[in-house]
Formats: sequence, structure tokens, C-alpha cells
Amino acid sequence: MTNFKSNYFTYKDNNLYCEKVSLLKLSEEFATPLFVYSKNFFIDRYKELNEAFSSVNHKIYFASKSNFNLSVIKTFYELGSGVDVNSAGEFYRALKAGVNPKDMLLTGVGKTDEEIRLGLEKGVMVIKAESLEEVYVINNIATELGVTAPVAIRVNPDVDAETHPYISTGLAENKFGIDSVYAYDMFVECSKLSNIELTGIDMHIGSQITKLEPFVEAVIKMAELYKKIQSAGIKLKHFDIGGGIGVLYNNESTFTPKEFSEKLTPIFMQLDAKILFEPGRFLTANGGVLLTDVLYTKTNSLGKNFVVVNSAMTELLRPSLYKSYHHIQPITKIDNENFKADVVGPVCETGDYIAKEREITMVSRGDKLAIMSAGAYGMVMSSNYNGRRRPAEILVDGSEYKVIRNRETFEHLVFDEEKHL
Ligand code: LLP
Repeated sequence: MTNFKSNYFTYKDNNLYCEKVSLLKLSEEFATPLFVYSKNFFIDRYKELNEAFSSVNHKIYFASKSNFNLSVIKTFYELGSGVDVNSAGEFYRALKAGVNPKDMLLTGVGKTDEEIRLGLEKGVMVIKAESLEEVYVINNIATELGVTAPVAIRVNPDVDAETHPYISTGLAENKFGIDSVYAYDMFVECSKLSNIELTGIDMHIGSQITKLEPFVEAVIKMAELYKKIQSAGIKLKHFDIGGGIGVLYNNESTFTPKEFSEKLTPIFMQLDAKILFEPGRFLTANGGVLLTDVLYTKTNSLGKNFVVVNSAMTELLRPSLYKSYHHIQPITKIDNENFKADVVGPVCETGDYIAKEREITMVSRGDKLAIMSAGAYGMVMSSNYNGRRRPAEILVDGSEYKVIRNRETFEHLVFDEEKHL
């Protein structure tokens, strides 16, 4: 088993640490499955991206869908980030974390009237509309409330983000945004509506993008559109390039914020606009791990090895849903040979696995493992399937740590069902 390269999750005397806290200690104190996050990873990543674009008028809006724990949202908010919320539920979470609605972007391909009303009443910075019909609905609700709605229009630039098809969003065939062919006319049409203030252009071409080219291509296209709209006398303020910056899970080659900035800053400089970013994964993925215990091992008659662990698709859906790779390494180094195994969870689904045909150190019952890169789209995509209780989450800061969410109890599983019996 090779080690995942990280400055925030390192071995000391054969034990894996998150910053200065032993993961063995945490797994014993809080039991597994357990999510552990490095606060200083979050801080450093945010600063790295923010500083890379220091020469540009910009603001980062943390995409809370990647990790919506209140303490994580608060960590970014305290650094000066805004928050991108994708539903009334995420809005509620951000509000509970202490975020002023003025620092929120309200996103979503299918916002309900309730969500639009909430956004307008509470005064979010901008609502990002994804169809002409939606802008009409926003205009009607704004008229009813007697307010002017700040609206940005999400344009689908029709570029291939070259990522997993489930998380590619910027092709004309995808459901997201408004077709770039119609975009200009739509801006002109929307600028005539009584209770809409058009504030900007928005795009988001996909997630886990590891190449710069698709970003550059899309930004160039959208910059042209922005200029065309401005010269038609429609005064826009924001140019929002969405999220999507890819990270290292295995051996991908990614780009750094500095490289990102070198390519994009010259384009941004031509625009009279504040540049908005909506990163999620970049800020959180490699700041989190999911700790798990080996329950059983077995070998079938074909010689295939299974390692059954106590984490499953219910805690980390990504391998089952996207065949994603997550590095796995022992919490306490084991001096054994390697073997090839499927690392699987207890859920009654063949598709429930953490790793397939993975070369790992031969482990046995009671060994503890860390599933790496679990800080983004881990806990947020967890479920109670098979009656599983969601794990606790811990935030480490140097040699300190705190519980930021307890493990769910059996009461959580039944919610209010008993009173309906
Ligand atoms: N902005 C918008 C409008 C988005 O839809 C998303 C992600 C983001 C920002 C943040 O993207 P990021 O920087 O995290 O790539 N569950 C999938 C990822 C789905 C992403 C959905 N939208 C996964 O586990 O890979």
C-alpha cells in the first residue's frame, strides 16, 4: 500500500495523524465509521486559491454542497468566503452557520417558488436562473413581494469538461443553464422585466476537471458574451465561472491555482466585472478522511479476496456511483505483504464497495483503515439505507479536535414515524 501524499495526513511512528492528532486515538474515542477533517487544510486551500487571484477583483463562494457541515461552512465564512447554496436546505444550513444571506448565491436547476421567495425575502446576493421561464417566475414573485430580484443567468457554454459524464454539466446536451445560442437574446428579453436586475453571467461546466483547456475555452466564450451584453447597454457586475477545479485522488495530473490564474487572469482583466468562483471539492476533498474498521476477510474459490469493512456506500457513495478511486491506507502501518482485494461494505448491494481489485497490505479483522480524499461529497451524499446511522464528524485544528456532528442515534432513523403508528 503506498501512502497518499498529503501534508495534513502524515505518519508519525507508524501511526497516521491528521495534523497533530492521532487517527488511532480518534477512531478509538469516537468509533468508526468516522469522518475527520483538517481545518488547516481548508484554510490553506482557501488562501492558496484566493491569493492566486489577488490581482483580480474577485470573491470565492464556497460550494456548500461538497461539505455542508455548519462548522466547515463557518470555517470558510470566517476566512472571507461567501457561500453557494443549492436549495432551501443548504440555505438553512448556511444561515445556521452564521452566514449573512447577502453573502450567498442561490443556485439550482429547478428552484421551487418557495426557494425563490426565500431567497428574495432574506436578500441573497444573487439568484442564478437557468431558464427563461424561471426568470419570469422570479419576476412575478419579486413583483408580488415588491422587490427587485438580483438575477444572474447561467449559460451553458457547450464545452466538454472531459470529466465523468455524471458530473459534466457544460455540454449543450446537459440539463444545466441556458443554451449559449439563445443566451444573448435571453439577456435582452430579461432586461425588460420590471422587477429583475440582471447582475451577471454564470457558468459551471462540470466537476473534477483536471485540464485547464475546457475552463479557458468556456471562459473565453462567456467573456465574449459578457462584452456583447455590456455593449448592448445592459450593465452587468458579475462574471461567475462556477466550481469544478479537479483534485488529486490517485495519479491524475491536475493544475495549480497559480497555473489556473495565469491562464484566466488576462481574460478577466478585459472585463469590467467582479469574478466569482464557486469551488467545493478543491477546498474540501483532500481535507477529509473516512476512518473504518476491518470486520472480516475472506477468499472465494476463484482466489478473490474480500475485505469487509464497516463503511459502505451509505457513507461514501462515490465509488459505487462513479467508480471513483479513493486511496486506502492503514491507520497503523502493518508489516505485511500486499494482496489484491475488493474492499466492500455491509450494505446489501453488489455495487456497495469502496475499492475493487485494489492492491493493499494484507489486513485482518480489527485493523483500522483510512479512506482518503473523503472531505468532499462524502457525508453530504450519505444515507440511512439499510438502517445505517450517519457517522460522526470531527474537525482537527493543530493538536486540538472537536466533534462537529455526533453519530446519528436510532431515534434519527425513525424521525417522527412512531407518532403515526
Ligand atoms: N457550482 C455549481 C453550480 C455546481 O453545480 C457545483 C457542483 C459546484 C459549484 C461545485 O463544484 P466542485 O468545485 O465541487 O467541483 N457528487 C459529485 C460532484 C457533483 C458536483 C455537483 N455540482 C462527486 O462526488 O464527484
